[in-house]
Amino acid sequence: MDRILGNDDKTLENLKDLFSIHTWRQRITLDKHYITPGYLFEKEWEIIGLPNNLDGLTFLDVGANDGMYSFLAEKKGSKKVLATDIYINEGECLSMIEGWDIRKITLIKKYKNSLIDIVPVSIYQLVDKLREKFDVVFCGNVLAWLNDPLIGLEQLCLSTKKMLIIREDISNINKPVLEKVRQNGNKFNWIGSKKFYIDYFKSMGFTKVEFRIIDEWPIFLERKTYFPHFELKDNINVFNHPFSDNEIIKKVNNHKILPSLLNVNGFLYFNELGWIKEDEAKKVDSSIPKNYIKRKIFEWKFRKNSLQNCVIYAYK
Ligand SMILES: C[S@@+](CC[C@H](N)C(=O)[O-])C[C@H]1O[C@@H](n2cnc3c(N)ncnc32)[C@H](O)[C@@H]1O
Repeated sequence: MDRILGNDDKTLENLKDLFSIHTWRQRITLDKHYITPGYLFEKEWEIIGLPNNLDGLTFLDVGANDGMYSFLAEKKGSKKVLATDIYINEGECLSMIEGWDIRKITLIKKYKNSLIDIVPVSIYQLVDKLREKFDVVFCGNVLAWLNDPLIGLEQLCLSTKKMLIIREDISNINKPVLEKVRQNGNKFNWIGSKKFYIDYFKSMGFTKVEFRIIDEWPIFLERKTYFPHFELKDNINVFNHPFSDNEIIKKVNNHKILPSLLNVNGFLYFNELGWIKEDEAKKVDSSIPKNYIKRKIFEWKFRKNSLQNCVIYAYK
């Protein structure tokens, strides 16, 4: 991960700004040396079967988050990429409904010299605000979080020229239903059935609808393999970023076991915490805990009967 940054102060300042943010979701390649410390991999593009060639096509990413799919769409030849989300300028935010911190995607765009457009717009206002249709529209894991997924869905359909790709759980109920399902505790998400999506897209003028069920195991394995667990020593310093002139932002006292997402210049990154010198954290068994596997297998059995992690392709 080490790199001689030479005299390129701008690049270094840009990296410092990026790594001073400690709430990452997506793991985005910045260049051949650096990657953002999120936990969602770029490989998911292939795993969920997104088109490999977007030459000459326009691409709209709805709920783009840190921008992983938008930057990949640009790399895959899209002639115009719009990354949209309910972006806000008010600092780090972890919630899926209150607005997403715009600084991360903006800093990455600058670092990569990317040409994507970043537009703060809600899914509810795509038609009014963008006034444009896109060849390919992608909306990954957004509908489940909305108050009104039907309005969101309608906006997606109206913004699509050729192909709409939606990643959501679907239910196997043999009727066209969209329902609010309890996930765990007090968490509820909207889930549509296969029949619901088929009927809905047909009513919106789409001619073909396809479903691809995602195998979650490779995604899960990838996450576990790349994120070894560490136990922190007592009373240790947490730094802002892993480069020179970094500052201590706090001290941590409790002996937590945390997965580290990245090691840069001898500093380990811990999500929602910051950077810790690697000799102050002890690596603990990084193999997958048995009870975790048991729980996952139980969840997947349950899913097989009721919910499936799915990508829906609708063509006009
Ligand atoms: C679970 S994340 C999915 C992010 C990304 N699409 C992915 O697949 O990794 C949900 C995203 O939806 C965004 N979101 C929530 N409400 C939204 C709305 N009304 N309009 C647009 N995006 C919204 C959140 O800010 C968040 O970035």
